[in-house]
Amino acid sequence: MNIITKSMKQDKAQIGTLESRVHLHDVLVVGGGLTGLRAAMQAADAGLDVVVISKVNPLRSHSVAAQGGMNASLGNVKGEDGAEDNWEMHAYDTVKGSDYLADQDAVELMCREAPRSVIELEHLGTVWSRLENGKIAQRPFGGAGFPRTCYAADRTGHNALHTLFEQVVARKIPVYEEFFVTSLVTKNGRCWGLTAIDIKTGNIHGFSSKATLMATGGFGRIFSRSTNAIINTADGQALAMDAGVPLKDMEFVQFHPTTLYGTNILMSEGARGEGGILVNKNGERFMKRYAPNSLDLAPRDVVARSIEQEILEGRAYDQGYVHLDLTHLGSDRIKERLPGIRQIAMDFAGVDPVEKPVPIQPGQHYSMGGIDVDKNGSTMLKGLFAAGECSCISVHGANRLGGNSLLETVVFGRLTADRIIEEIQNVEQPEMEPVMAAVQSMETKTENILQRNGGEKFFSIKTDLTQTMQNKFGIFRDNDTMEDGLSEIEELKVRFSNSCFMNKEPSYNQALIQFLELEAMLKIAEVVAVGAIQRRESRGSHKRNDYPDRDDEKFLKHTIVSLKDGKPVINYKPVKLGRFEPKERLY
Ligand code: FUM
Repeated sequence: MNIITKSMKQDKAQIGTLESRVHLHDVLVVGGGLTGLRAAMQAADAGLDVVVISKVNPLRSHSVAAQGGMNASLGNVKGEDGAEDNWEMHAYDTVKGSDYLADQDAVELMCREAPRSVIELEHLGTVWSRLENGKIAQRPFGGAGFPRTCYAADRTGHNALHTLFEQVVARKIPVYEEFFVTSLVTKNGRCWGLTAIDIKTGNIHGFSSKATLMATGGFGRIFSRSTNAIINTADGQALAMDAGVPLKDMEFVQFHPTTLYGTNILMSEGARGEGGILVNKNGERFMKRYAPNSLDLAPRDVVARSIEQEILEGRAYDQGYVHLDLTHLGSDRIKERLPGIRQIAMDFAGVDPVEKPVPIQPGQHYSMGGIDVDKNGSTMLKGLFAAGECSCISVHGANRLGGNSLLETVVFGRLTADRIIEEIQNVEQPEMEPVMAAVQSMETKTENILQRNGGEKFFSIKTDLTQTMQNKFGIFRDNDTMEDGLSEIEELKVRFSNSCFMNKEPSYNQALIQFLELEAMLKIAEVVAVGAIQRRESRGSHKRNDYPDRDDEKFLKHTIVSLKDGKPVINYKPVKLGRFEPKERLY
């Protein structure tokens, strides 16, 4: 197969036998974002038969929406005192930002690999913004001791994703686009592939492989206010958990301080990196009270909490938003460095940031937790790997620094592919039988779902879930509120089990896909909830009013959740400490 897109021009009659819908490849990459595409390139360059399977065209992956940039200690812009950046300082900022929950071996690896990864993208064609001297430009970001974030105006993800997609096209790597993965196939302690619905026809396909890499992104859409694309619905995490692979640190959910009031579209941290400031309704630059040194460029957990505090204490506009003021930056700078958010603010809020401050509020942005992997991207299930936001390596611990996510995608996309290349050398050609059996059982499952009639339409359950998560597991948490939230999730699961939808068409049945997405969202919401309730301390993004302090004695450890009889069960495992001793975080 040497086509780029398995575009399903065929109609159902052409789909044929079960055998014709079971495909055999060396490596399956699930997800067409930056992590998946970078991994696919690496595997293809090693001569492997690799394919990308994605529920959307790769250029619609959420990576395309990344704005502010990618961290690397290139040292192109000096620090305040003329000091030059280095990877150790990057690692220090990352570990401190993580509230000491990150595994320091993984952080070191990522920070050492960062400069090489930015240069690699440059050589592949990413159009980085430039300094006067022609070097790659770098801007300050929250929680960073140096201007370390490389950027392509405020469309960095867009640039990088197009770069990698071109590389995938150049290598003729097949992309099964609009294929929604429905299960991972396991036998004798190994993952042998997966099943997926071809959204265009409604047919179930099976994919047999020696290795499967999950690169499915985050699960932000379980919250009602999120910067995430509509597609970020926890599918990958739920698939892994169903296959017996634990999830790690899922209670750590990042709220980005600056999302556009109302729609929650991202207003990049790059805006504050360029000099933008936060102001409450009294005209006060309130970050002075919360982070006297770093001010608006404190880490995200600190800034998001500060804005929420202003809202709770009545110093916000309409009790819901504060201002991100860029007007003093001047028209030229805004148009050159922040054209994307200017356009978004004009289109979605009717505000031109050149002239007026932008109304913003915090919104869910990122999941620090994910599929538990080691620093090679290996899960505890042989043949199954994960990288990028769907995984937890863990390089972000309890709070990710802005600019480290794009970095993680390309570093661990490449390194995990290297691991796969090494590991599958000794793996025999997979048997087709387990995958064929899984296709048949998935056909039965979807037929049963489509036959449901009567009962509640599931769409309102999704809305209710996102409200529960937003209201009960938001920026400030406490036991009673979260216990209420968990009970609500349990009730929603019961409602879901009796729910249905009207569309019974096989082709492009978005109701069916959303129904399956919601199944995953409910599972993952429960995992977030139990982890958050059990972590009786405050650390990074997990701020509890009833346990306001960090408790290293009891909770300097990773939360590990697996399923037992369909219910989440919690264990813990130690954090890998290193050169940076845990201490109080001051900004
Ligand atoms: O604010 C931003 O541009 C987001 C960056 C990130 O999440 O790394």
